[in-house]
Amino acid sequence: MAHSSCITGGYCAVFSHTDTKIQYFLDLSYAVFFDHIAVHFFKSISLCLGIIIQLLNLVLFFPLSPVNEYVFMVQARGIQIRENVKNIGAQVLEQVVRGAYSINGTDYSYDLNFNESDAPPTTYLPEGFTYLPSQVCPERLPSMKGRLEVNMSEVSLEEVERVLLKGEPSMAPGGYWKPSDCLPRWKVAILVPFRNRHEHLPILLRHLVPVLQKQRLQFAFYVIEQVGTEPFNRAMLFNVGYKEAMKDMNWDCLVFHDVDHLMENDRNYYGCTEMPRHFAVKLDKYSYMLPYNEFFGGVSGLTVKQFKKINGFPNAFWGWGGEDDDLWNRVRFANYTVSRPHGEQGRYMSIPHHHRGEVQFLGRYSLLRHSKERQKVDGLNNLNYSPLVSRRLLYTNITVSLSRKLAPIADY
Ligand SMILES: *[C@@H]1O[C@H](CO)[C@@H](O)[C@H](O)[C@H]1NC(C)=O
Ligand SMILES: *[C@@H]1O[C@H](CO)[C@@H](O)[C@H](O)[C@H]1NC(C)=O
Ligand SMILES: *[C@@H]1O[C@H](CO)[C@@H](O)[C@H](O)[C@H]1NC(C)=O
Ligand SMILES: *[C@@H]1O[C@H](CO)[C@@H](O)[C@H](O)[C@H]1NC(C)=O
Ligand SMILES: *[C@@H]1O[C@H](CO)[C@@H](O)[C@H](O)[C@H]1NC(C)=O
Repeated sequence: MAHSSCITGGYCAVFSHTDTKIQYFLDLSYAVFFDHIAVHFFKSISLCLGIIIQLLNLVLFFPLSPVNEYVFMVQARGIQIRENVKNIGAQVLEQVVRGAYSINGTDYSYDLNFNESDAPPTTYLPEGFTYLPSQVCPERLPSMKGRLEVNMSEVSLEEVERVLLKGEPSMAPGGYWKPSDCLPRWKVAILVPFRNRHEHLPILLRHLVPVLQKQRLQFAFYVIEQVGTEPFNRAMLFNVGYKEAMKDMNWDCLVFHDVDHLMENDRNYYGCTEMPRHFAVKLDKYSYMLPYNEFFGGVSGLTVKQFKKINGFPNAFWGWGGEDDDLWNRVRFANYTVSRPHGEQGRYMSIPHHHRGEVQFLGRYSLLRHSKERQKVDGLNNLNYSPLVSRRLLYTNITVSLSRKLAPIADY
């Protein structure tokens, strides 16, 4: 089978070496086509039709998207078409998508979107509920109302500091806060990897801090800024952030948060769960659909225990892309499954930008093939760095210069 060596979704094998969408598309169709022609002869005819529809769609709608986002858009688009062309396109596109994203090339059940009616009934506590300072804060608070307005307009950090501290004078440097009317269920370190996004950070803080307070979590923010000339290494920044945060206090839950992701629903509870959690399920930029079942990007959360067990993030991913897929693999190899918020709770808007100046990591697919072997030798256990740490009112600033020799591993 064409995809047998591919762990994080079939497209990695066929997509690794190509840069144009048409090439990608042909490779994909080709691989899927031959997988299926061997298995289901009849379906292959309708598969051709599906490919044509998709190809048209591709050329018409996404002439300018960057390739990676583009892959997701193809899917999103595919699903919309499936709705439209119910009778012909239906199974066809499903086969294309399913074939392309399965591990074995055979069917396996995936769930691109949660069925809204599967969501658990909303049993939020009633308005006026009184907490007891001696009791653990509930998870479903009356203050969590659901849908949130997202304000993306730019604002200065000083202004956000002023407003937030006025609202909650008990916030301490580093963005540290804990509820006083009940015992926080989770002590959450919010880790935000950072470079060249000074206008995004105040927007995130303005949006997120009040939500975390409503959720009655104990929390602080750690912004880990990469300096130097190496490509951006989001994953290694998370490892650094984790190690530094743990020097402050015994956090028990870690949230790995991109600076440009703004949640749209305050019932997306940022505490941890028994299983690693993926929070950013539905992004506006992917038409509010999960791009692929193994998608673990944007915002995710692990308990400290889980994070240690998987040896943290990989350090070997220089440039954007792939590190979140590797994290997914690590989680799976540790026999965890990933939990996600249901339905509308997992919606996010992202502040538009264009990976400005940041290079894509083209070697990611070959690294991903060796996730398992690398997990033991690349992560929290091979990491060296010398940070510069300072506190601002709303976050701890951890500045590090990263380079490959700080996390040595054998070449894969
Ligand atoms: C891969 O194939 C094996 C054997 O056919 C099956 O047991 C396994 O569940 C498949 N994995 C997935 C993710 O489909
Ligand atoms: C969603 O779930 C409901 C009830 O479980 C079911 O009736 C419905 O067909 C499902 N919809 C989809 C699109 O699977
Ligand atoms: C968004 O933020 C800006 C700057 O802080 C503020 O002036 C504006 O009123 C906000 N808009 C909404 C809808 O809250
Ligand atoms: C995961 O489960 C498999 C099968 O039950 C077991 O062989 C393996 O040792 C487990 N791995 C870890 C890291 O616990
Ligand atoms: C963090 O600190 C460094 C060094 O003082 C500074 O150059 C940088 O702008 C700060 N970054 C943020 C996000 O505050």
